[in-house]
Amino acid sequence: MKFFLDTANLQELQTGASWGIVDGVTTNPTLIAKEGQPLEEQIRRICAIVDGDISAEVIATETSAMVEEGRRLARIHKNIVVKCPLTRDGIRTTAALSKEGIRVNVTLCFTPGQALLAAKAGAYFISPFVGRLDDVGYTGMDLIRSITKIYQNYEFPTQVLAASLRSPTHVIDAALAGAHIGTMPFKVMDMLFNHPLTDKGLQQFLADYDKVFREAPVAG
Ligand code: G3P
Repeated sequence: MKFFLDTANLQELQTGASWGIVDGVTTNPTLIAKEGQPLEEQIRRICAIVDGDISAEVIATETSAMVEEGRRLARIHKNIVVKCPLTRDGIRTTAALSKEGIRVNVTLCFTPGQALLAAKAGAYFISPFVGRLDDVGYTGMDLIRSITKIYQNYEFPTQVLAASLRSPTHVIDAALAGAHIGTMPFKVMDMLFNHPLTDKGLQQFLADYDKVFREAPVAG
């Protein structure tokens, strides 16, 4: 399973990249706006920090403008994956850009039927939103299970990028469901490290070592 960071914050990306486990980055207009920097400039900075797939979302909503914007974003860096919303125009754009060899991440997916449309259009990634389905009373993870099964049935090459993951349990369940990628906020990736028995065990190991090698009287 690949790990992506769902953030446009450079400090979070630097720390994540230093861990050596970040395979890519996803952004969206909300995350870019949070940083207060123009989209293309911020994407350029992100590409300089993380060497992996970087999703950059189009702002346009009509096909010809989306295609134009997608082409422009793709020119920023070889690692760019253009992100398009799952609308009729978005799917038309996905089909057009995919035919040109530009990789597309289709976002805002909430049903297996929508995921089928994205795969049919040649999407490189499909982004089903787990947490947002949980928010409205569904079991978001069921969507990941359905999509992975459907894609396997027909050997669609589109990769399942589990998005809107809000907790370490979400990440683990997405991995169990066979998602190719999990994208998560920095906070969630950081939480994956934590276990009280890890901390307690390390403390004990070091204390035991110290007792013999640091507290022993110096020979001679
Ligand atoms: O990048 C899209 C997605 O991961 C958003 O997550 O928590 O805003 O639903 P969230």
